[in-house]
Amino acid sequence: MLLIVTPNPALDLTYTVPRLRAHTAHRVASAAARAGGKGVNVARVLAALGRPALAVLPLGGPTGAAVAADLTTAGLPHLAVPVAGETRRTVAVVDPADATLFNEPGPELTAAEWRSVLDAVEARLPAAGALVLSGSLPPGCPADAYADLVARAAAHGVPTVLDADGPALSAALAAGPTVVKPNAAELRAAAGTGDVRAAAAALRERGAGAVVASLGPDGLYAATAEGGWRCEPPARVTGNPTGAGDAAVAALAAGLQAGAAWPAMLPDAVALSAAAVLAPLAGDFDRAAYLRFRSAARARPIPAPRPAD
Ligand SMILES: Nc1ncnc2c1ncn2[C@@H]1O[C@H](COP(=O)(O)OP(=O)(O)OP(=O)(O)O)[C@@H](O)[C@H]1O
Ligand SMILES: [Mg+2]
Repeated sequence: MLLIVTPNPALDLTYTVPRLRAHTAHRVASAAARAGGKGVNVARVLAALGRPALAVLPLGGPTGAAVAADLTTAGLPHLAVPVAGETRRTVAVVDPADATLFNEPGPELTAAEWRSVLDAVEARLPAAGALVLSGSLPPGCPADAYADLVARAAAHGVPTVLDADGPALSAALAAGPTVVKPNAAELRAAAGTGDVRAAAAALRERGAGAVVASLGPDGLYAATAEGGWRCEPPARVTGNPTGAGDAAVAALAAGLQAGAAWPAMLPDAVALSAAAVLAPLAGDFDRAAYLRFRSAARARPIPAPRPAD
């Protein structure tokens, strides 16, 4: 079983309009609501792959109830930790040109509520094949919250995949996450350099076991204990890149659980994430494209940067 923590889940609302124009009224052509948050996207992808997974998430208020109901409808096993604050919403206004996003911050969790999340995770770690930590921390949550979870997983011998940025990522490195998956901007911000190989090496020096950097249409660069690897998508695709990183995280977690080696794991992650771009909604992927891309993608070893680089 894969354990997925989403500390700051959301009800994702999508409004489709013929054309978005600021400071005017719009007639909404269609409105949709579904459970969201990066970990929820990861859970959706794993469920579609037939990988048993359990999503742990704090939920509160009517919006939290709507998230739980949607997870149940979608057949996604979850463990809701009740909290007093109201779960947040995100709003995506989509027109034919692009999407415009409004993300609420989410409720502040009390220390006792966050402890309940930790306890729920701790209780399931003995049965977990890997722990996924995905997305922002709720307001008021200490920046070392992910570090704490990484350390608890390590104590149970459970590998971790961390997809976070800013202080939550930086603070977790010293706890030794098995894999961190920043995108290019997150990696640059965490390491203070735009050179991907140097930045990934810097994050490994700070404690990450491996750094898998996602580079949008350019695929992945991985800095690992077995050396550096590059894996490009067999095809550049156009579509909705939101959630492509979450699909890569799902593939990495499944690979870690299975004990896969990097030359197998990285093409799988590249294929699944490219197939996710082809699906209109985050958390979905085009299955036929995934299988096609998977048989075509290859990881090639590339030298680590020299210390002077
Ligand atoms: N246009 C594209 N064509 C093919 N593959 C893509 C494309 N865009 C993204 N990908 C794949 O998706 C992976 C993740 O993309 P990206 O680096 O944009 O992640 P991200 O910013 O973390 O996304 P998110 O956080 O929204 O899930 C890339 O490493 C690549 O394999
Ligand atoms: Mg991402």
